[in-house]
Amino acid sequence: MTAKLIKGTEIRDQILVEIEADVKKIKDEHGVVPGLVTILVGESPASISYVTAKIKTAKGLGFNEIQDNQPDDISNEDLLALVDKYNKDDSINGILVQLPLPKHIDEKKILNAIDPDKDVDGFHPVNVGRLMIGGAEVKFPPCTPAGIQEMIIRAGVETSGAEVVVVGRSNIVGKPIANMMLQKADGANSTVTVIHTRTKDMAAHCKRADILIVAAGVPGLVKPEWIKPGACVIDVGVNRVGEKISEKTGKKIAILKGDVDFDEAKEIAGFITPVPGGVGPMTITMLMKNTLKSLKFKLGIA
Ligand code: GUN
Repeated sequence: MTAKLIKGTEIRDQILVEIEADVKKIKDEHGVVPGLVTILVGESPASISYVTAKIKTAKGLGFNEIQDNQPDDISNEDLLALVDKYNKDDSINGILVQLPLPKHIDEKKILNAIDPDKDVDGFHPVNVGRLMIGGAEVKFPPCTPAGIQEMIIRAGVETSGAEVVVVGRSNIVGKPIANMMLQKADGANSTVTVIHTRTKDMAAHCKRADILIVAAGVPGLVKPEWIKPGACVIDVGVNRVGEKISEKTGKKIAILKGDVDFDEAKEIAGFITPVPGGVGPMTITMLMKNTLKSLKFKLGIA
């Protein structure tokens, strides 16, 4: 069997068309566009590449995009003051502080300082709580989990009653996607298991999964024999395993590998996401959707 590829790039393109049309309509009717600030601390190549992609997408959609880069040694106080500045800035609807932050920064304190109504990442405790309750309470679903759920829905995979196994328990992916898939809602209603580094028999759990969501950050962690034939495999891993020269640009680029052995897994799974070009583009798309949503909430048209 050869799995059906769930291409994040294709789904992204469909959603971006929808967002662009909405942005134009709001601009015509209300004279405003969504405003997004991306705060990048330091010079981690991975973070630079993620933030660059976010900025490019926002600008392409006609958003007001502010790129605020800060040095690695910025103090907690200065970063808090920066967040506060954008909390008070009426032209900004979304504040994104790229993670991870340097060790000396109190990440929790920074994330908690973001106005929950501008928290388009969905990381503030208020938004985490809203997500837990589900339904109309949810304002900003976190971007990667929202992208994963959208891919599963658009691929036509049955989620109701499905055994979903999530590998990894991070606040950014594992915990929120587990919570979202168990909600009483379309694209959810699943039976969810979360497995992690202390799980005794990871293989046994994975083998039961109708939908296997892997967000462990360990290249090739999930072995092909752990995959149930016909299952939907969502690979969230973006592991930099080396460098190569791009055939397109002639520049040095990272070699990326997922958490799943793609070549073998695609012969067993029913659906699978590639790396790159799978979940990654969806995360950015959902960030744009949340920023637009934030403006809509402000205008009372959400
Ligand atoms: N670092 C890795 N993923 C994310 C994300 O979704 N948002 C932010 N702010 N930082 C990240």
